[in-house]
Amino acid sequence: MDKESRFLRACRRESVDCTPVWFMRQAGRYMEEYRALRKKYTLLELCHAPELAAEVTMQPINRFDLDAAIIFADILLPLPGLGLEFEFAVGEGPRIHKPVRSAADVERLRVFEPREELGFVLEALGIVRGQLPKSVALIGFAGAPFTLASYMIEGGYSRHFVLTKQLMYSEPQAWHLLMDKIATVTGEYLRAQVEAGAQVVQLFDSWIGALGADDYRDYVLPHSKKIFDSLSDLDIPKIHFGTGTSGYLELMRQAGGTVQSVDWRMPLDQAWEKIGFDSAIQGNLDPIAVLCDQDTLKRKVFEILENAGGRPGHIFNLGHGFLPQTPVENVEAMIEWIHGYKAS
Ligand code: CP3
Repeated sequence: MDKESRFLRACRRESVDCTPVWFMRQAGRYMEEYRALRKKYTLLELCHAPELAAEVTMQPINRFDLDAAIIFADILLPLPGLGLEFEFAVGEGPRIHKPVRSAADVERLRVFEPREELGFVLEALGIVRGQLPKSVALIGFAGAPFTLASYMIEGGYSRHFVLTKQLMYSEPQAWHLLMDKIATVTGEYLRAQVEAGAQVVQLFDSWIGALGADDYRDYVLPHSKKIFDSLSDLDIPKIHFGTGTSGYLELMRQAGGTVQSVDWRMPLDQAWEKIGFDSAIQGNLDPIAVLCDQDTLKRKVFEILENAGGRPGHIFNLGHGFLPQTPVENVEAMIEWIHGYKAS
C-alpha cells in the first residue's frame, strides 16, 4: 500500500520522515518531454485538452521523486469566462485583446460559473487523481485578484504596473468592484477544483510585491481574504504564494492560507518568525541557484534546510518558478539531497 503523502502531513505541520519537495513550474520547457509535446500543440491547446493536460502534469512525476503534482493549467484561463479574450504571443507572453481600462469595462465583466466555463481543468484534475499514487498529492491553483487584475488592466506582463496602480489609486470604487468580481469567481473555481480531486489549493499572487504594506492592506487583503474565507469549510491545506512580500508577510497570513509561500529575499527562518512558527511555510530557493554548478546549488539548498531547523511544517520549493534553461540533472540531484537530509 502507498504511504500517505508527506507533503500533506507537512502542510498540517505533522511529523514527516523527510522534507517534502515540489517545484513551481515543475512541468514545462526545461523538460524535453514537454518540449516534444509543445512542437505539436500550443500552450492553450495543451491546457484545453484534459488528456494532454493530465499527461503534462504527470511528466515531472514520472521522471522525479516529487511529493506533489500541480495541475497543468494557467492562471489566465478564467479570463475568457470574465469576458476577456487573450492569447500567448510567441516570445512575448500573454496578450489580452481588450484590456480593462475604465469603470465601464469593469461593470461589463461577467461573474461566471467555473464548472461550466472551466470544465476542462476539472476534467484534467480527475484524470490525474486517477493516475497518482497516494503518496503524491494533487495541487489545484488559481491566480490571486491583484495578479490577475494586473494582467487584465495592463494587457500583458508589466514592469511598473502603471495602469494598474493608476486605476487602483484614482478609481477605488472600480478597483474594488474588479477585485470583488475576480475573488467571487476564484473562490468558486478553487472549490470546484477540490470537488474534482485537488487535495490542496494554491493562490498565486506573483506580482503583489509591487505594492507597499499599506496599499496591500487597503486594496488587496480584503479580496484575497474573501477567497480564503469562502473555502473555510474545506478541510484541506491552502497555500498562499507571493513574491517580494518580505515587508508584510504577516499581512499575507492575515489574508489567509494554512501554508505561506515565501521567496528568497528573506532567509527562511526570519520569514517564518514573522509569519509565526504555528503556520506551515513553503520555499524558498532562488530559481537562479538551480542554474549553477552542483556544489553551489547544494550549498544553497542546505542553507534553506538548516534555516528550517527541523521545525514541523516546511515544504521545500523555489521562491518562484523554474526557468526554461534549468538543467534536469540539477532537479534530480536537489530532490535526492532534500529527501536525504536529516536535521541535526
Ligand atoms: O508546473 C506548473 O507550475 C503548472 C503549470 C503552470 C503554468 N502557469 C503553465 C505555463 C502554472 C502554475 C502557471 C501559473 C502562472 N501563469 C502564473 C503564476 C506563477 C508565476 O510563475 O508567477 C503566471 C503569472 C502565469 C501567466 C503566464 N503564463 C505568463 C506570464 C506566461 C509567459 C511567460 C513564460 O514563462 O513563458 C505563461 C506561459 C506558461 N504557463 C508556460 C507554462 C509552462 C510557458 C511554457 C510554454 O509557453 O509552453
